[in-house]
Amino acid sequence: MISAIHRFPDGFLWGTATSSHQVEGDNTNNDWWDWEHQPSRINKGHTSGKACDWWGGRWEEDFDRACSDGQNAHRMSIEWSRIEPNPGDWDEDALDYYRQILQGALGRGLKPVVTLHHFSNPMWLADQGGWTNQEVVHHFEKYVRKTVSSLKDLVKIWVTINEPNVYAVYGYLMGLFPPGRKDLDITLQVVHHLVLAHAAAYHAIHEIDPGASVGMTHYYRGMRPARSMNPLDRWVTGIRHRNFNELFPRAVHEGLIRYLGRKIKVPQAVGTQDYFGLDYYTSELVAFDLFHPKEIFSRGFFPDDAVLSGTGFIMDAPEGLWKALTYAHSFHLPIYVMENGVEDSSDHMRPRYLAHHIRQVWAAVNFNWDVRGYFYWTLVDNFEWERGWTQRFGLWELDTETQERRVRPSANFYGEICKAKGLSSEMVAKYAPEILDEMFPGKGPGELISR
Ligand code: GAL
Repeated sequence: MISAIHRFPDGFLWGTATSSHQVEGDNTNNDWWDWEHQPSRINKGHTSGKACDWWGGRWEEDFDRACSDGQNAHRMSIEWSRIEPNPGDWDEDALDYYRQILQGALGRGLKPVVTLHHFSNPMWLADQGGWTNQEVVHHFEKYVRKTVSSLKDLVKIWVTINEPNVYAVYGYLMGLFPPGRKDLDITLQVVHHLVLAHAAAYHAIHEIDPGASVGMTHYYRGMRPARSMNPLDRWVTGIRHRNFNELFPRAVHEGLIRYLGRKIKVPQAVGTQDYFGLDYYTSELVAFDLFHPKEIFSRGFFPDDAVLSGTGFIMDAPEGLWKALTYAHSFHLPIYVMENGVEDSSDHMRPRYLAHHIRQVWAAVNFNWDVRGYFYWTLVDNFEWERGWTQRFGLWELDTETQERRVRPSANFYGEICKAKGLSSEMVAKYAPEILDEMFPGKGPGELISR
């Protein structure tokens, strides 16, 4: 018997999120493959290799898992380098295979949400200067037109570009992603091209399928001044927030890029999102620091008493998701939480992280905010970019040698949530008993009944 439950509406989307390069394997024709095979680019020299072997067909068994775990949606991405291996040369077999995958999702009751650009680029595009070359806008639009025209009967929710703020900063300012640049002017140029490409894709998709819902996903990092009353900490926190979290949402809302005091008008981008796609993982404290000029004289860090994930990458900070949802809500659009998750190979922290974050989403739904779905990152452990295989975000554990999957308790926990369309005190008592009192104050389920 359920004593207390945070219930979600019928029709709410419950899913997991993946991306092509991280799960497909053998993406030999893109810039990430090239990057992984250069010395010292990826932690421990890891490479994506076969990844989760989805291109070899293992998406079927993983979709079976998602489906029997009660999910009703899946967010995945299309690999541009497979669709257009050379400029203007369309691979119809690859498109057919994606069609098969999407039909496989739909056949299992998983509504597909499809991303068109998730960090990886065809090698030919990278060779032409990638996102620094304005030609990318035209190339991206052509690829989007081709892909969307072919798959429009199967997909109703499109994500044009995943986390453009992370993509621009990691690839062109911090040098962690290909092409490994560290140049502020180039970063601004890339930001401009990303906004232009998104706007072109948005208009093209609506021309092809007026009923489609189109947006992007925005990575939002919670930020708080390290010393709450310190004016310098407050000042740099504001700068970081505006130039990272707010950069793209504002640009595609008002058609104006504002980046570190510079402004670029992009009128064709005004109002080019039909929903707000939110990716949230963690929060940090921000302090003014003269020794970090490249980070605008600021430093982000976790507090000493933080509950941290396996490799110290993520702090369990659900209040940051609340802030992120509040920010997303200010745009008066439907909201999807398109990514949220934690790396935790032992599955020690994940159950509580899940409960904490799903509770924030529930609170927003109960404020009557138009939150329509939640996608956990990710279904099965996958290739985590510059961190390689050292971080395990999966509900299911992957043995990369044998391709064997093993269930983690969190898969069962999330499965129970999806099936019940809610998070109950029994579930929390079973999977994350250490936070039962905090989530459902003062009560084990028994106590609620006996009082
Ligand atoms: C996101 C990214 C995903 C995944 C996740 C966890 O920023 O979109 O592809 O890697 O982080 O690291």
